[in-house]
Amino acid sequence: MSDILVHTEAGVSTLTFNRPDKKNSITAAMYGQLADALQAAQDDATVRCVVLQGNETIFSAGNDIADFLNNPPAGVDSPVFRFLRGIAQFPKPLVAAVCGPAVGVGTTMLFHCDLVYAGDNAAFSMPFVNLGLCPEAASSLLVPQMLGYHRAAEALLLGEPFMAEAALEVGLVNRVLPPMEAAGYAQAVARKLAAKPLSALIETKRLMKKHQTQQVLAVMAEEGASFGRMLGEPAAREAFGAFMERRKPDFSKV
Ligand code: COA
Repeated sequence: MSDILVHTEAGVSTLTFNRPDKKNSITAAMYGQLADALQAAQDDATVRCVVLQGNETIFSAGNDIADFLNNPPAGVDSPVFRFLRGIAQFPKPLVAAVCGPAVGVGTTMLFHCDLVYAGDNAAFSMPFVNLGLCPEAASSLLVPQMLGYHRAAEALLLGEPFMAEAALEVGLVNRVLPPMEAAGYAQAVARKLAAKPLSALIETKRLMKKHQTQQVLAVMAEEGASFGRMLGEPAAREAFGAFMERRKPDFSKV
């Protein structure tokens, strides 16, 4: 069974994170599959909408830490950057169903989705600082834009989780549902979108996003360069080592 499931039906392509034993953390291979699936959905005229989902208990624990250490992204064409650019520029509607933890890129990818439906157990977090890293996926631009600076600083500097209701309040989430209903609801909305004229959906999304697409890509590139450099520095090595050894990190010497 693949770690990313792709199922296309009734004009909706559904991409499911399917690595529950590792909390749907995302490896380079999975980023590659996601980037390819987005490209295929973009190219397939019968696909009008894409849904991203995990299961009722976990959306994604973000980057797979072990894979990141062993296989750090090398350059702008690495799978993670292909995925991030793909999601930022995806021309058709993107709907997400999020239940349980959405950590790191599990949260930042949602800023590129058009509609987000959350289970009431959804917990969003961007703990980049706690990992000795910096924001990615243009979140240093998009989080302050959506949350306002002070709430963004809380989310990005402290990195603590915030729950579905708080995400609804700031506009990251469209609706909060019982976890068992989130995926079904997202699927129903996606089918509603898929019944609409594709050209009108694409043009409407393009007009809403065009003012900042280039800025988003530029910020992503700048964050990517910093993130890549910081991955090799002592703070990240300490944080990642602590995660692997199941201990608290000690940043007193970095
Ligand atoms: N990378 C690699 N493995 C991960 C992972 C990640 N990001 N997140 C979880 N896992 C693995 C754990 O190592 C564990 O593996 P094991 O069973 O072989 O020991 C398994 O998934 C279950 O994780 P666990 O922490 O026991 O689950 P939990 O329900 O107690 O907590 C999370 C779930 C998501 C809150 C927690 O796993 C977590 O905080 N993960 C780290 C997230 C993170 O920092 N991501 C950012 C990366 S940039």
